[in-house]
Amino acid sequence: MTTAYDQAYADWTANPSGWWEDAAKGLEWSKPWDRAFDPALGAFGQWFAGGELNVCHNALDRHVAAGRGERTALIWDSPAAGTQRRISYAELTDAVARLAGALVARGVGRGDRVVIYMPMVPEAAMAMLACARIGAIHSVVFGGFAAPELAKRIEDARPVAVISASCGIEPGRLVQYKPMLDEAIALSAHKPEFCLILQRPMLQAELTPGRDADLLAAMAEATPCACVPVAATDPLYILYTSGTTGKPKGVVRDCGGYAVALHRSMTMIYGVTPDDVYWCASDVGWVVGHSYIVYGPLLLGCTTVMYEGKPVGTPDAGAFWRVCAEHGVRVLFTAPTALRAIRQRDPELGFLAQHDLSKLEALFLAGERCDPPTAIWAAAHLGKPVVDHWWQTETGWAITAGFRGFGLFAPAPGSGGRPCPGYHLSVLDDHGAELPRGTQGNLAIRLPLPPGCAPTLWESDDAYRRSYLSDFPGWYRTGDAGEIDATGDVWVMGRTDDIINVAGHRLSTGQMEEILSGHPDVAECAVIGAADSLKGQTPLGFVVLKAGVDRNEAEIARELVVLVREKLGPVAAFKDALIVPRLPKTRSGKILRASIRRLADGQPANPPPTIDDPAALDDIAQALSAA
Ligand code: COA
Ligand code: AMP
Repeated sequence: MTTAYDQAYADWTANPSGWWEDAAKGLEWSKPWDRAFDPALGAFGQWFAGGELNVCHNALDRHVAAGRGERTALIWDSPAAGTQRRISYAELTDAVARLAGALVARGVGRGDRVVIYMPMVPEAAMAMLACARIGAIHSVVFGGFAAPELAKRIEDARPVAVISASCGIEPGRLVQYKPMLDEAIALSAHKPEFCLILQRPMLQAELTPGRDADLLAAMAEATPCACVPVAATDPLYILYTSGTTGKPKGVVRDCGGYAVALHRSMTMIYGVTPDDVYWCASDVGWVVGHSYIVYGPLLLGCTTVMYEGKPVGTPDAGAFWRVCAEHGVRVLFTAPTALRAIRQRDPELGFLAQHDLSKLEALFLAGERCDPPTAIWAAAHLGKPVVDHWWQTETGWAITAGFRGFGLFAPAPGSGGRPCPGYHLSVLDDHGAELPRGTQGNLAIRLPLPPGCAPTLWESDDAYRRSYLSDFPGWYRTGDAGEIDATGDVWVMGRTDDIINVAGHRLSTGQMEEILSGHPDVAECAVIGAADSLKGQTPLGFVVLKAGVDRNEAEIARELVVLVREKLGPVAAFKDALIVPRLPKTRSGKILRASIRRLADGQPANPPPTIDDPAALDDIAQALSAA
């Protein structure tokens, strides 16, 4: 039987450009595109070339103009701050226009970069939309990164301005953003011209005279600024993500293709209408937050929920169900790790009894593969479909999913569903040959990538080609391994590089190794992602000390943990460095990280025949059992 999904996928296959042109009609364009897809532009081509629009206009002003100004655009629910706030489309448009005016008055214009380093407050979304309004390019940096990481991003993006806040709120502590911002600016060779700082009631930051201004005061004084039409191919934002080295990749998102893909995805994948409340329980610092806390729901005209809290502990494991019930959430989108955290505290979902979830129709998951037991547990207890869907910072929206818009099919537990229309997905061997169904290999997307996917890396088409396009000519290498089964379901099993996923957060073990190697006592090291029942993976370091170092090993291990926290940030969740006499290597000197990881996960090491000294694995096993 042909399903609505099969039909949509076949329609897209038959006429890819026409399919996306049809999707683009859901938005307002100030100038129509010349070509739906121009293969001559950029690293592999660009969507909607010649077209002009403004993403902020499409997300806000056009809904107000259509008479929906009184509709709630954003609900801020902050158990962390003990506050809630509902902001209508008219109010949000006004606030964003004022913030845009404040930026313009200080000289920010089209193409200028603005770094946003903020906790989960409405002003973070306002700052993003204000940039979009004036054609400036925002780059949001997650609050859990430390000052040196922020500095790297400031240095690479060279922003005219930084928008930040006095503090974020983590359980049991206030995270002071301003000293970290000051340190980052001091570390960076590039200095922003000015900073706008949100002074939160729980902590007033000291402003640097001549550079910093109070964000809310600046907005109050500003003349509201209208939307500026920009090229569909102009960058909307840069979002830095972990690569395999210490230098983060500046993933660029365009305006037109992204807006079209997100707008279509809201109905096609999530199956919501403009009358629905949509909640993505992520952080604006991640791609999921960009796409589905801010842009996606607002482009469709939904109510989006912004939550400053945790799945557990703010105040209890019923927090998610409380938010869903209180705000009438239709679709919830979170990370599997959040479900595992809830399950640990409330295995029978006893808290559900206190909340009316009748409006909730589906739970979507992403960020890491959802382990089948968690998916099955959640579906059984909630009585709602649980839909895992696979995507990456680079793609900006799902590669594979279950589709409520096509009559829901929740993928089999452990599977990421079927390819979204727009993606021709295949599994390749290491030489780029396509593998038959049911065989594991490299998941790759045939070019061109659909609208919404990153057209390039910041200021470097070449780096983009090297990272994603050169291994398998004609294909985009996802960096994920997996298979497509006989029914067409896609199973994503893990990365093929040294990127790990810790609580749904993408981190580079290579970067952590660079940091550990910077310690004066360290000769060499290896960091692996060990399986973790809550966070999916946690980083674990193995360190060989320089000859002659005779300091207390426990003390050195503690210093290494502090070093990663100071250089990369608490988000790395790096808590263990084990000191070993040597690392297992091949005869050519390559560290056998996969064997170390298997040992850490309690499996046989299965070293390759090229191992130099098998006894080195015993040292690893001994360190693990002593830890
Ligand atoms: N600002 C500053 N610090 C932050 C931060 C932020 N925005 N976010 C996290 N941190 C800190 C935490 O306080 C913690 O610090 P600690 O080591 O001093 O305790 C550290 O970074 C690790 O945070 P986290 O990974 O969130 O672990 P946790 O133990 O605090 O919470 C979970 C565990 C599972 C509840 C939490 O990871 C979670 O909610 N995950 C969902 C993730 C998600 O939505 N990802 C989006 C991808 S779809
Ligand atoms: P990020 O760029 O931070 O969104 O991380 C992207 C990576 O997370 C992907 O390349 C995958 O390795 C992993 N990932 C995200 N969602 C899923 C999923 N639903 N199933 C399996 N892996 C996922």
